[in-house]
Amino acid sequence: MTDGSARVLFFDTTLRDGEQSPGCSMGEDEKLRLAHALEELGVDILEAGFAISSESDFAAIRRVAREIRRPVVASLARARREDIARAAASVEGAARPRIHTFLASSDIHLEWKLKMSRERALAQVDEMVRLARSYVDDVEFSAEDATRTDMDYLCSMCRVAIEAGATTLNLPDTTGYSTPEDYAAMYRAVHGCVLAGTPYEEQVVLSTHCHDDLGLAVANTLAGVQGGARQVECTINGIGERAGNAALEEIAAALTVRGDRYGVRSNIVLEKLYPTSQLLGEFIAFRPAPNKAIVGENAFAHEAGIHQHGMLANPLTYEIMTPASVGQPANKLVLGKHSGRAALRARLAELGFVLEPAELEAAYQAFSLLADRKKSIYDQDLLTLVKRTGEVVAQ
Ligand code: KIV
Ligand code: ZN
Repeated sequence: MTDGSARVLFFDTTLRDGEQSPGCSMGEDEKLRLAHALEELGVDILEAGFAISSESDFAAIRRVAREIRRPVVASLARARREDIARAAASVEGAARPRIHTFLASSDIHLEWKLKMSRERALAQVDEMVRLARSYVDDVEFSAEDATRTDMDYLCSMCRVAIEAGATTLNLPDTTGYSTPEDYAAMYRAVHGCVLAGTPYEEQVVLSTHCHDDLGLAVANTLAGVQGGARQVECTINGIGERAGNAALEEIAAALTVRGDRYGVRSNIVLEKLYPTSQLLGEFIAFRPAPNKAIVGENAFAHEAGIHQHGMLANPLTYEIMTPASVGQPANKLVLGKHSGRAALRARLAELGFVLEPAELEAAYQAFSLLADRKKSIYDQDLLTLVKRTGEVVAQ
């Protein structure tokens, strides 16, 4: 049974846009393990790599395509004949193959990177999307640097792509330059000039793809959804080029926790977010920052005394979702110099010490002195402290 709301498809590119960034390269077996975890997480489309970029990328995509059955498996290709042939070969064994081809649309990319006229680029999109469609029925076209592209020209390129057979149209914020207002407006404009009132309206999915150079990747993605996008491209832990891609876990949690705002559903199993993030952390050179939303080690940790007091009374005072709902271990009341008596009493009780008021006061004074000197207070410190204060109170 469904609630009738629209579904947003999750397109995970951890194995492609994520993997191609510094410190994130993975071996074939690791990619395969992560692909299985992403399937269990509920991603709808899994971009497994950039087939022409290396033999090892090609081999990994091939294995993922043969083993992963439920999600669509996508393979990236520039809008070039040889790239598309290689991408097609890499997903041959897939139950649901997709070729994802792209060409830049902004003048700055056309002039300086591709040295190509606008007219030539349109012809190339037409030819290459048709070629991709000769291999598979599911073809995504991305207008690279869409957010810095002249709107009329962007609409022309999108029109050419869908008339040539593209079934998904992706409008990337390749340089992380956009703002939520502008990004949402771009979807409304492209929908209005390319899809509205045509048979493609029901057939073509608009997709977001945001980079985090201004720290706006997730906000822009959510704005894209509000503008009408029904596919979001993202990575676990937000890994990716430069400052990274939009973080899958943040988008999925925001769409659920603030379902009142977005009104869309997804297939993501939220409880698998933290375990999947941990698995990725085992394979690459770094883990998410401790204060990273949803999956960071401190995402559900409370140190300030007022917060700890509130949490002990009712977790709803300071938590908008439970750690369990995103697969995190139980929330932590971290004992440090900002903690109060309530948190100290609670932790000591968990360790088996129920103190009388005078003992608790003495323990708290000793604890405060210690916390001024030490950044982290461990259970062992508390045990020593209770022993000492017990002796003092007994004298
Ligand atoms: O950021 C980007 O524009 C890309 C495209 C290849 C989709 O990664
Ligand atoms: Zn990208």
